Amino acid sequence: MRLLLSVISRRVHRAAVHTGTRRGLSSSAGRGPSPRRDDALVVGSSRELVLSVGSQVEVRASFITEEEEGALLKELEPGLRKKRYEFDHWDDAIHGYRETERLRWGEACEEILTRVRSVAFPEGSPLLGPVHILDLDKAGYIKAHIDSVKFCGSTIAGLSLLSDSIMRLVKEDAPSEWLNLLLPRRSLYILRDEARYNFTHEILKDEESVFNGQRVPRLRRISVICRNLPAETPTSTELG
Ligand code: OGA
Ligand code: MN
Repeated sequence: MRLLLSVISRRVHRAAVHTGTRRGLSSSAGRGPSPRRDDALVVGSSRELVLSVGSQVEVRASFITEEEEGALLKELEPGLRKKRYEFDHWDDAIHGYRETERLRWGEACEEILTRVRSVAFPEGSPLLGPVHILDLDKAGYIKAHIDSVKFCGSTIAGLSLLSDSIMRLVKEDAPSEWLNLLLPRRSLYILRDEARYNFTHEILKDEESVFNGQRVPRLRRISVICRNLPAETPTSTELG
């Protein structure tokens, strides 16, 4: 799965923080049983930036219940426990992690994933079959990177289990433009289109985990990530 990542060098931390209320803007959020995107969970270097990303960045608090989190953990923990956290590769995009992929799920988990897919992906969008599971140790973190455009499509949707965390997005060609997303435990985040292609994303290490002036302790965190496939490139016959 590390093939999916190309690390972009980390950028320095920036100061100004703006929240942007996006009330009244139409968005694809609000479908399904979960609450609408929670704007208080997204802050950025300017109000304009927060507004302009619009529905390309969504965080939905309490997307799953405690019971559903338990069902996912019950299914994932036995496999994860057999692996060791990897810390030693200095050039990796991810530090202090173990990971796996899962194609087949029990009924309870399948139901959760169906809900994730129905809110996150355009209808009919072909999805990457296996779901990616990333288990970050308390000391683990994910460096700034952009998911491979060769292997992943326009949308990335992730559930956060066991811990709150902060995801930072930085515009690739304008590093002074950034967003911080507070990802509460049991929330779902969705990155689409430009937010996925033109911004790096990272998960901050515990020591740096501060949202809007508020310290957010980063414990062990498991993410359950669904992705779609890249749009098919036309074949030479289709091009005529
Ligand atoms: C990744 C990634 C984020 C997360 O694996 O490419 O960015 O929520 N993961 O774990
Ligand atoms: Mn990624």
